[in-house]
Amino acid sequence: MKVGVLGAGTMGAGIAQVASQSGHKVVLVDLNMEVLDKAKASLKKVLDRLVEKEKITREKATEIESNITYSTKTSDFAPCGLVIEAIVENIAVKHKVFAELEGIVSNDCILASNTSSLSIASIGSVLKNPSRIIGIHFFNPAPLMPLVEIIPAVQTENHVLTQTKNLIDSWKKVTVLCKDTPGFIVNRVARPFYGEALRIYEEGIADFATIDWAMTELGGFKMGPFTLMDYIGNDVNYAVTESVFAAFYYDPRFKPSFTQRRHAEAGFLGRKSGRGYYNYAEGVAQPEPTKDTALGEQIKDRILAMLINEAFDAVFMQVASAEDVDKAMTKGVNYPKGLLVWAQEIGYSKVLNQLEALFVEYGEDRYRPNPLLKRMAASGATFF
Ligand code: NAI
Repeated sequence: MKVGVLGAGTMGAGIAQVASQSGHKVVLVDLNMEVLDKAKASLKKVLDRLVEKEKITREKATEIESNITYSTKTSDFAPCGLVIEAIVENIAVKHKVFAELEGIVSNDCILASNTSSLSIASIGSVLKNPSRIIGIHFFNPAPLMPLVEIIPAVQTENHVLTQTKNLIDSWKKVTVLCKDTPGFIVNRVARPFYGEALRIYEEGIADFATIDWAMTELGGFKMGPFTLMDYIGNDVNYAVTESVFAAFYYDPRFKPSFTQRRHAEAGFLGRKSGRGYYNYAEGVAQPEPTKDTALGEQIKDRILAMLINEAFDAVFMQVASAEDVDKAMTKGVNYPKGLLVWAQEIGYSKVLNQLEALFVEYGEDRYRPNPLLKRMAASGATFF
């Protein structure tokens, strides 16, 4: 089957590589020829390195390269069985593009979006046959991150879902099934990793370096929240937080932080601007954490309890199964353990007590414990 990818930026180029590696002929389309040239050149560089490292043979590299054709014309999607859109995150632009795509492809071509934050139902609403719309959400960088969230919209037909899931599984990705809700699984459940860390900083409990130290050294996360936000970019991470907050009708659980907003406004975007929560200029020494284990444990337990609460909520609200929530966080954002398995190890009651204590102390809705966590803690039932 021929696969079309629209948009040759960060995500589109990576998705084209994944499809091509799995043996598909791929048409990669972008408005901008320069972007296409860049995508082609960077793919060549990646493949050359893989050959050097003996990860793939020269023949395989040549095959992957020659599988992809680069074009500025969407009419080249005509023979495709699946088109994945990865263009700018703007609903008006996506509407225009999907309506146009439907006029080009065959009747049974599946039309997919890689959107991180827009509703699949809304994207599909412009189609004459909306039953063929689906969300296929890859993680950055697409060739390296194993997770793909598969998101059927309310309009999506079952056979479209089955076909899509089977196809992406055959690309050796880990797929999880997810309801068409804001942030899907990962961008919803992960919010407290940033939000609660920022809150702890704002209350003056600890500085960036100490919070990062607590989460990496004591929590086992690969990166602390502030280091990670500096990697993602404070502008990008803030925009995601704000859009999830608005999409949840301003539920206080997802409230963005002034600290992050001010950093973004100041141009302290993170690594890409040379300064974020940390200063990346050459020769600047990084701040040392206060290695106070009792304080560190308190920070780690608080952020972890908030993350676990979100993981329970995703299951409670039927966004995804418990297995898929844990898979998503370990394979999409490299968490050291699935949050629900982790909760079981800690004990549901202990997590609940922690949340109840926060809820009582602050009186804020943000800390309300999830009803499913309460029920399961009371009954002694467990997920696994
Ligand atoms: P990007 O800005 O790197 O690339 C977008 C590309 O689309 C650009 O090359 C642009 O020239 C092209 N484009 C824009 N309008 C077009 C049109 N009408 N027709 C053809 N090409 C057009 O963006 P990125 O980061 O790759 O994101 C793309 C999509 O993937 C967005 O919906 C985003 O939310 C989603 N996404 C992004 C992730 C990330 O980490 N960057 C992760 C997962 C999803």
